[in-house]
Amino acid sequence: MPETIIIHLTINGTGRSFRTPPGRRLLDLIRDDAGQTGTKEGCGAGECGACTVLLDGLPIPSCLVLAASCEGHEITTVEGLVHDGSPHAVQEAMVETGGVQCGFCTPGVIMTSVALLENSIDDREEQGRRLAGNLCRCTGYEKIFHALEVAGTTDD
Ligand code: FES
Ligand code: FES
Repeated sequence: MPETIIIHLTINGTGRSFRTPPGRRLLDLIRDDAGQTGTKEGCGAGECGACTVLLDGLPIPSCLVLAASCEGHEITTVEGLVHDGSPHAVQEAMVETGGVQCGFCTPGVIMTSVALLENSIDDREEQGRRLAGNLCRCTGYEKIFHALEVAGTTDD
């Protein structure tokens, strides 16, 4: 196995190449190589969802995914939700409703929430199932569900 390989990814709309060891986690590449430190590491074991990013629009735990397996694909992190200096409707709604408290889970919760809205998943039970992989110790989730409601009425 080679010591390093070159991986091509689109991160937040920009095509980039990285020389990296073949076993590097996507999370490490995103944070340390691409400098997108909005994505957090919690458990590092696929349990907490703090590291959630979108892979071709679908939420994944980036701590469990090898960067090399994403060759040629599109990654969106929480930084990529801001357009022309304006936050995404989900980001605004999370602040407005108090869905952000300590904030550690927030980038991951926001990425899963964006995917819910973009796939028109507005059933509360289904939203709950999809958010079950994003652990939040602070909000009791009600404020996050409220944020989804608010964002769903303002999403562009
Ligand atoms: S850091 Fe990836 S799931 Fe917890
Ligand atoms: S806001 Fe603190 S863990 Fe979710």
